[in-house]
Amino acid sequence: MEYKLIGPEHYEEVIDHLRRNFFADEPLNKAAGLCQKGFGNSELEHHSLETLKDQLSLMAVARSEGPGQTGCKIAGVILNGILRPGDTVLALQKLQASSDINFKKIFELLYNHNLKVDLFGRFKVDRIFDVRILSVDANYRGQGIAKELVKHAESLAGKRGFRLLKADATGIFSQKILRSHGFELFAEQLYSKYTDAGGQVVLAVEAPHIKLQLLTKKVSPDESDV
Ligand code: ACO
Repeated sequence: MEYKLIGPEHYEEVIDHLRRNFFADEPLNKAAGLCQKGFGNSELEHHSLETLKDQLSLMAVARSEGPGQTGCKIAGVILNGILRPGDTVLALQKLQASSDINFKKIFELLYNHNLKVDLFGRFKVDRIFDVRILSVDANYRGQGIAKELVKHAESLAGKRGFRLLKADATGIFSQKILRSHGFELFAEQLYSKYTDAGGQVVLAVEAPHIKLQLLTKKVSPDESDV
């Protein structure tokens, strides 16, 4: 398995990977019924592409060798973006214009949860390495690829001079993976307690995923480049 930075030439393949894996499988997307496996979602694709433009995203590439041919396939990705003060307030404002009610439900939860805390003030930083999407192809899961992607992302964050990583971990497995890398719990929200004005649960997330966790990790900067 090779771990490398995602460049613009890979964007199409990355989006295709997300359509076949993350868009339908991620716990909140699944609860909201965001899209069927293999199908696209324009809002989430836009969100992913905007994140890719920050040039902090990585992919795990599997090489296959058959008789007379070699091939490459994206086995997993970690999409990371730069988060600056005011970004989440702006994103929440922009979200109001979205006509995709399922996308809105998911991102209102994420953005409002983030707005309850002040990571910039608490950690005295002016930019955060934001781990936004962690996704492994269903055929490659359970082989430690997500763990490796997190390890490489953390190393990249250090090399690019970031002092803080954060992630909104939406399911029990991403929470376990990030905690095993030293991420610490900063805030959490039980899905069963996230209700609308009428007391109805907004996102009926399937067990074993019961809560959203905002996790953080401090990093030491590394001078070398990737
Ligand atoms: N059942 C039981 N344990 C699991 C499972 C599972 N389905 N998935 C991962 N784990 C455990 C592993 O056992 C392992 O624990 P261990 O080190 O104690 O043995 C640990 O989690 C790490 O497993 P990896 O093999 O590194 O994880 P994998 O490569 O399979 O990827 C991932 C995990 C990314 C969650 C994958 O299942 C996936 O793509 N899911 C759909 C998308 C998603 O939910 N992404 C995370 C959302 S949060 C975010 O993106 C910031």
